[in-house]
Amino acid sequence: MSNVVQIENLSKNYGQIRALDDVILAIPEGSIFGYLGPNGAGKTTTMKILVGLLHYTGSVKIFDQEVRYNSVEINKRIGFLPDAEMPKNDSIHRFLSMTGKMNEIFNREKRIQEVLAELGLRKLRNRKIGNLSRGQRQRVGLANALLTDPQLLILDEPNSGLDPVARVRVLSLLKDLAKDGKSIIFSSHIIGEVDKIATDIAIIHRGRIIEQGTRKDLFKRYLSHGKYVLAGKVDREKALALDYVKSCDRDSLGRYIITTPGDIPEEQLLVDLIQKAGSKIKYFSSLEFSLENLFLESINGRLMEGEYA
Ligand SMILES: Nc1ncnc2c1ncn2[C@@H]1O[C@H](COP(=O)(O)OP(=O)(O)OP(=O)(O)O)[C@@H](O)[C@H]1O
Ligand SMILES: [Mg+2]
Repeated sequence: MSNVVQIENLSKNYGQIRALDDVILAIPEGSIFGYLGPNGAGKTTTMKILVGLLHYTGSVKIFDQEVRYNSVEINKRIGFLPDAEMPKNDSIHRFLSMTGKMNEIFNREKRIQEVLAELGLRKLRNRKIGNLSRGQRQRVGLANALLTDPQLLILDEPNSGLDPVARVRVLSLLKDLAKDGKSIIFSSHIIGEVDKIATDIAIIHRGRIIEQGTRKDLFKRYLSHGKYVLAGKVDREKALALDYVKSCDRDSLGRYIITTPGDIPEEQLLVDLIQKAGSKIKYFSSLEFSLENLFLESINGRLMEGEYA
């Protein structure tokens, strides 16, 4: 399968701030690509570069074409939902009409009606964008991104601010679009939703990609070691000195996550060994795979005490 986006050695500085540091990403055509990372990790910056809003160093290709600053041609084939404000004084309909005109959409009015219906905005079409609720505005942004029926959608936190019904609808809309052969890149802090629909995932932290792969590959890699969660008074140094303990890090809930080189014969044996090594364990269980666990673990292992991101 070919890649719709191919990023190599991408770096971006804002003055002294290094927002992206040698990013390498390959996004397969037809995938739903979930882009995860803590606040300030570099997700929005990556997306803005993809749609030609920022200068950068490195190589960024979409549809095999190098992205240039302000690149109009590639943008005609991309739908973009930014995390930025929209014109407040326009009605929804007027805003979509302007996007339609700019992109010379054939049969514009019909297409506007379609996306209004898809995003549940028909009744609101004459309302001023500035007077809409946050979730309603978000849906206008999505309608706008979909208007040109683009081959590639780049959506910066598409589900932020949406109510539960709208969330489910948008997720299923994205799935349907992928079934139709579109490629979708989206960022989100709602890991459960990424878990539900993403076929490919990357985690970025401080401008560097720290995990990347198909959902299946990530699961496989994650499960190749035994993982356990324990709570209590743990003597980390002594636990780490045991042959069975490969790593021992605290997660954001203050629990310890232990990895072992492979599955151990009996969990009780591990508990006994750790207790003998000076720890008092109150809770012990094997850690199930979830994208959330993978995310928390890969980020937490890189944080200092008291850091968030
Ligand atoms: N215009 C700018 N000028 C200076 N620094 C910026 C600018 N835009 C972003 N940054 C910095 O670049 C880094 C990456 O920001 P970015 O917006 O890409 O993060 P993000 O992953 O989208 O975060 P969030 O999850 O909070 O949306 C941050 O340290 C941010 O403060
Ligand atoms: Mg962002």
